[in-house]
Amino acid sequence: MDSINGSEAPQESDVKSFFDSAPPLRDGDLICRKLKEFMDGIARSSESGSPVRVVCVTSGGTTVPLEQRCVRYIDNFSSGYRGAASTEYFVKAGYAVIFVYRRGSCQPYCSYLPQDSFLEFFDLTEDSSIQVCQSHATVVKKAIRDYRKAVDEGLLLKLPFTTIFEYLQILKLVATSMSCTGTHGMFYLAAAVSDFYVPWESMAEHKIQSAVGPLDMRLTQVPKMLSVLRREWAPSAFCISFKLETDPDILLQKADAAMRKYGMHVVIANALATYKEEVIFVTKGGRTTVRRHNKDSDLEEQLTDLLVETHSEYIKQPGVEL
Ligand code: PMT
Repeated sequence: MDSINGSEAPQESDVKSFFDSAPPLRDGDLICRKLKEFMDGIARSSESGSPVRVVCVTSGGTTVPLEQRCVRYIDNFSSGYRGAASTEYFVKAGYAVIFVYRRGSCQPYCSYLPQDSFLEFFDLTEDSSIQVCQSHATVVKKAIRDYRKAVDEGLLLKLPFTTIFEYLQILKLVATSMSCTGTHGMFYLAAAVSDFYVPWESMAEHKIQSAVGPLDMRLTQVPKMLSVLRREWAPSAFCISFKLETDPDILLQKADAAMRKYGMHVVIANALATYKEEVIFVTKGGRTTVRRHNKDSDLEEQLTDLLVETHSEYIKQPGVEL
């Protein structure tokens, strides 16, 4: 198994103070219960002779609240399309997916929905009941069938987050619950994660007043949790992180650094201007450019195919299990 360069790990005290300062996770008990049921279902399938691979897909951007009773927040760029589409392809490949997503971002099996209004999909009949427009019927039927199948077969669990606090608390719960059940699994970290935050205890409780004049605010660095995930929460999981940059000239060097510093198995490098068309798949073995075939195809399909293949190779190694 790969080693991690400990010198790049965040200070334990920074990680502790991040979690200590975070507001308690809403519905934490419910999330733990759902995770347990989901993992138990997977264990039952595996015992009955069909081992199921598990992947945690994170998707959408985390927010950083500026006030405890939050009116204003800093957001991170991500529609959630990549995570939602990849979830569909992982399920199709037989993986059970824990989909950790930003509330209101793209959802698996719904990525074709019109941006402006889902009402475009429906018509009223003469007796005032509702029906799906004929023009959209085929796509909606397929989506319902695929979605229900994924849920009924215990292959999809959805857990929402909004803030950086919720995101990292949920990621930790997922990782530890996978480790507790002896599932090594995979992490596909497509969410856009905040690098800076306001600690809860130093955050204004009420709406910051404009009358105080220009706002002067100091943000604390969010500890990079990738190395904590690899080192402590899920040491035997197969981990894929994304690297997003706006300057293509520094992208690959940052992706190589993420491999080295955080012990990722794969880093997927993408530049903001071209991320829908092309990504670079970086492993210890080298770099592969993945380009979208055409405007009707999904880059995520090619990406997940390549990952399933790379994961399969990985778990064939001596001492590595599902
Ligand atoms: O959702 P779409 O609109 O389809 O867009 C997809 C995407 C462009 C958002 C996606 O492809 C992508 O690049 N996601 C990662 C964005 C990001 O956070 O990049 P980063 O370079 O800032 O961070 C790199 C990695 O460090 C990420 O995997 C992140 O999980 C991790 N991180 C970041 C900050 C932090 N404090 N701790 C972390 O562990």
